[in-house]
Amino acid sequence: MTRRAIRGRLLTFTRAPRGAGDAQSYRSIDDGIVLVENSRIAAVGPAAEIAARIPPDVPVERHPGALIMPGFIDPHIHYPQTQVIASYGAQLLEWLEKYTFVEEQKFADPGHAARNAEFFLDELARNGTTTACAYCTAHPASAEALFVAAHKRNAGMIAGNAVMSRNGPPGLLAPAASAIADSRDLIRRWHGTGRQRYAVTPRFAITSTDAQLAELGALLKEFPTTLMQTHLDENLGEIAAIKKLFPADPSYTAVYGRFGLLGPRSLMGHCIHLTDDEITLLRDTRSVAVFCPTSNLFIGSGLFDYQRLNAAGIRIALATDVGGGTSYSMLRTAAEAYKVMQLQGQNLPALAAFDLMTRRNAAAIGLEGEIGAIVPGAYADLVVLDARATPAMAHRMETVRDLEEELFVLMTLGDDRAVRQTYIAGEPALKLGSARSATT
Ligand code: GUN
Ligand code: ZN
Repeated sequence: MTRRAIRGRLLTFTRAPRGAGDAQSYRSIDDGIVLVENSRIAAVGPAAEIAARIPPDVPVERHPGALIMPGFIDPHIHYPQTQVIASYGAQLLEWLEKYTFVEEQKFADPGHAARNAEFFLDELARNGTTTACAYCTAHPASAEALFVAAHKRNAGMIAGNAVMSRNGPPGLLAPAASAIADSRDLIRRWHGTGRQRYAVTPRFAITSTDAQLAELGALLKEFPTTLMQTHLDENLGEIAAIKKLFPADPSYTAVYGRFGLLGPRSLMGHCIHLTDDEITLLRDTRSVAVFCPTSNLFIGSGLFDYQRLNAAGIRIALATDVGGGTSYSMLRTAAEAYKVMQLQGQNLPALAAFDLMTRRNAAAIGLEGEIGAIVPGAYADLVVLDARATPAMAHRMETVRDLEEELFVLMTLGDDRAVRQTYIAGEPALKLGSARSATT
């Protein structure tokens, strides 16, 4: 049995904060220990209580001055876009054609996919992200490469090949039958293998025919524990194209609804330009709206109206959307979420942001209790954060008075440099003393 004890200041959320200062929404322990046994948390509590239960041969790793939290969860990211990130000067449909589809075609080569999968997982670990919902390309070799690499690391990934059958280059389009057969094969081999899970992934309604969307809906029904991920109401040009392609449907959201693609396991990326009817449809189906602020600003898509969706009772998650998004860091993502909300006269308290990146994102992808919290039984996926990681952060920390202010410094000024260590299933993922390179 592999055992390890991780000691330091612990923080985990127990429910959604009702606003700034809601100290009942989390549990923090100034000097705590997480006892790990076989990938999972066996016990957690104050060091004074737990220390006596640790056998003498179990190593104790100490993180003085740092904050140990559940690893971040990124519920919308594209692993084939690590060489698309930072592509200049285009809005969504042009950006897809000019940069994204070009890079994604390279994933027909399994060697290219394998190299990118390793890079992607290293980069997530460097940023403290321990689980992600990743779009792959239409080539089954791309999802295969990511699953193989994640399984080897015992990292819990959710992935699916982004199925397309029209409005893209021939190199990304698969005939409907083979795309579905490939997805089914990936589900059979990987969904539930170790920590891996599959997400049925229509890229977006523009790139699938009615027939393909219907088959994807049927696939979701056939494997009801899989997730579904796609894009929705991101960009006005996209919405105009949807109106032309699906003239009989009352809305973009209704298109997905018609094919059985909405539901509590459906992750709808962006959700910026929703009508009231679409909001009702998302709420009634318990679908998740995924807020991707760095992407929405970078691609110029618009401002996610958090307050409107939250008030309507829609489940919300927070994600990077790399490579439309501009950072792998969930801390940078929270900082941009804050600014997007400020522009609309709304606030994102630090407590709410960290709850979103951990517990709420876990709940959004159906993994509450497994990840996203430091509780017995959960996987020991942890991030160790240092709010004094840079001179500017250390200087600002001199005037910080409490945990909430520290969290706000972390999300406003922090990035990968603030990640001192990342544990995946209890194993350190970063070489000691360096957040710059991940172990493979
Ligand atoms: N809509 C369809 N495909 C994509 C993609 O790759 N990125 C983003 N941001 N939106 C999309
Ligand atoms: Zn996306």
